Amino acid sequence: MKKQILVSGGAGYIGSHVTVELINAGYDVIVADNMSNCDMTCYEGVKKITGKQDIPFVEMDFCDYGAVEKLFTDYKIDAVIHFAAFKAVGESVVKPIMYYKNNLLSFLNLLEAIQKYGACNVLFSSSATVYGETKDLPVTESTQRLPSTSPYGNTKQICEDILRDTVYAHPDIKGIALRYFNPIGAHPSALIGELPRGVPNNLVPYITQTAIGKRKCLNIFGNDYPTPDGTCLRDYIDVVDLAKAHVAAVTRMIEGRMKEDYEIFNVGTGCPISVLELVTTFEKVNNLSLNYQCVERRPGDVMAIWADTTLANQELGWKAERTIEETLKSAWQWEQYISQKENK
Ligand code: WQD
Repeated sequence: MKKQILVSGGAGYIGSHVTVELINAGYDVIVADNMSNCDMTCYEGVKKITGKQDIPFVEMDFCDYGAVEKLFTDYKIDAVIHFAAFKAVGESVVKPIMYYKNNLLSFLNLLEAIQKYGACNVLFSSSATVYGETKDLPVTESTQRLPSTSPYGNTKQICEDILRDTVYAHPDIKGIALRYFNPIGAHPSALIGELPRGVPNNLVPYITQTAIGKRKCLNIFGNDYPTPDGTCLRDYIDVVDLAKAHVAAVTRMIEGRMKEDYEIFNVGTGCPISVLELVTTFEKVNNLSLNYQCVERRPGDVMAIWADTTLANQELGWKAERTIEETLKSAWQWEQYISQKENK
């Protein structure tokens, strides 16, 4: 009997890429999503990529405890990967109550159901934002978490602590938190990718939408930082590489190879890239010229953050493989696919 993995938020950008890799690795997947931040494009894309038409999909909200319980009575679940959360940093500053309620309640409901319906393995989608404005670079998993610069980031810190305390109180529950750096790119098939609603907050979708003509000009937020070219440094992790890290982590849990009941791993490349480097690389690999200008800094941005990936490399046997060039090509191919689809 194949192991069954519940992927909350599984119709979204990262959730859909993880679902593809889980199926490729021989797992069965149940996708649960409230569709508040995506449509069915990626779920349909997953079916095309894997050739698997019978992937259970449940439209539900993890803030509705009854709906969460029903997942556990309808399906035998061996592990849960929890993506379902709001994730726009800027929006969280403006709407903190919405972010705390949604991101905390959905996770608490999930853990309560797991506690009630039996032992389970929980893989939590965390973020490098939990490190705040650390100067301890590259960051390791033991780098101190500083006060987050946004309610979104604070919900990630709080959920990590909730998972940790739940695992310690319930020996039959195991937990891993994966701290992503900056997920970018799309599946090489160009059938799934990032579908930001409205004006993109993140850099790469804004770049691709500028390149395709949806946006007039990319604003580079600050070129006066004390960095080599004056723009911020980030650790951009390809979304397919990121998805494979989830397969490695959930397999570690299911096969009982964890060394602690609660573990944390950084998921990045370990290579910092500046905004300007990313923009010029995008132009080069896609043979186009991008309209951009440097403007004032964006409040809340940290100057630089990138990962020490030693622990994930050693313990998960995982390492980022795709080059930034391949990733930026995939981002552009996806943008072109989506635009063609929209214009039909
Ligand atoms: C990257 C760099 C911007 C847009 C956040 C969250 C993180 C994760 C990813 C959810 C920064 C610059 C951006 C633009 C720009 N979120 N930029 N012009 O802020 O590093 O991380 O998003 O999972 O948890 O913290 O990502 O892509 O917004 O910004 O110059 O139009 O690009 O200033 O230096 P960020 P980002």
